[in-house]
Amino acid sequence: MSSDRLAGRKALITGGAQGMGAAIAKDWASLGAEVCVADINQEGIASVAEEIRAAGGSATHFSLDVTSEEQAKAAVAHVVAEFGEINLLLNNAGVNKPTIFPNTPKDNYDFIMGVNAWGKFNVMKWAAQQMIDQGTRDYVYKIINVGSILSREAFLDVIPYSMSKHAVLGLIKGGAKALVGHNITVNGYGPGVVRTELWEQLDKDLVEIGMFEKEGESMDSLAEDMILMKRYSYPEDVLGTASFLASSDSDYMTGQLIMIDGGMVLH
Ligand SMILES: NC(=O)c1ccc[n+]([C@@H]2O[C@H](COP(=O)([O-])OP(=O)(O)OC[C@H]3O[C@@H](n4cnc5c(N)ncnc54)[C@H](O)[C@@H]3O)[C@@H](O)[C@H]2O)c1
Repeated sequence: MSSDRLAGRKALITGGAQGMGAAIAKDWASLGAEVCVADINQEGIASVAEEIRAAGGSATHFSLDVTSEEQAKAAVAHVVAEFGEINLLLNNAGVNKPTIFPNTPKDNYDFIMGVNAWGKFNVMKWAAQQMIDQGTRDYVYKIINVGSILSREAFLDVIPYSMSKHAVLGLIKGGAKALVGHNITVNGYGPGVVRTELWEQLDKDLVEIGMFEKEGESMDSLAEDMILMKRYSYPEDVLGTASFLASSDSDYMTGQLIMIDGGMVLH
């Protein structure tokens, strides 16, 4: 359903080429936002932006590795050049690669922490600086950081990922304190088990490291054993919360992480 709920929102969406980022980019555009789809996957960003424009929405795309300071700064500048300003960030790009601790090489740790913790810090830093430079508006600037159930839990086969998602919680809390004086809120949400390309790969990797016997088993097994609602989720399941956090409905909220996990982590 289209509406103008996000009209006037000029958004940078990282990790927008596929999965939840792409679903949110399309949803926000259908709600009136102008969106920049940014990702290392260049084919993906062009095709998501094209799909949005074909449906009558406003979209541009930008090739971005979130770990690069230069590229993060340039992505923010691109949004400003295209839309006049930036007033919404979805800090969504993320990676995972399971290992059984302590058999976890340093490059696994560096890769996951690099994208999920440093990458989010880096993009948020440049977006926040630009919002500050734009000055106070009569609406609230919004930064949304994507956490996980593993921002509040940890599993033995994904310790660096759990650490990186706890770091996202620190970024939300610290960012809220640092930016409130500039009329910028910083919140986030934590998906549980979501059927995206990330999980398709994770499912294969979990078999490879011996956590599950056969492919396709992990999501159903987690749903049965750990999710109160007894089902895993799809990107569509996060859309309502993401658009709420992007809209003025959440103006009196900052420093919060909302779980969207079917009842998996209850604190
Ligand atoms: N799928 C799940 O079950 C699940 C659960 C909890 C949290 N999450 C989080 O949700 C977010 C989206 O995940 P998804 O499942 O849609 O994953 P996905 O793999 O479908 O999409 C992630 C996107 O991030 C991009 N990306 C990776 N490294 C990047 C980099 N260095 N710079 C820019 N872009 C980069 C990828 O190219 C990809 O398009 C991630 O932060 C992930 O950690 C996912």
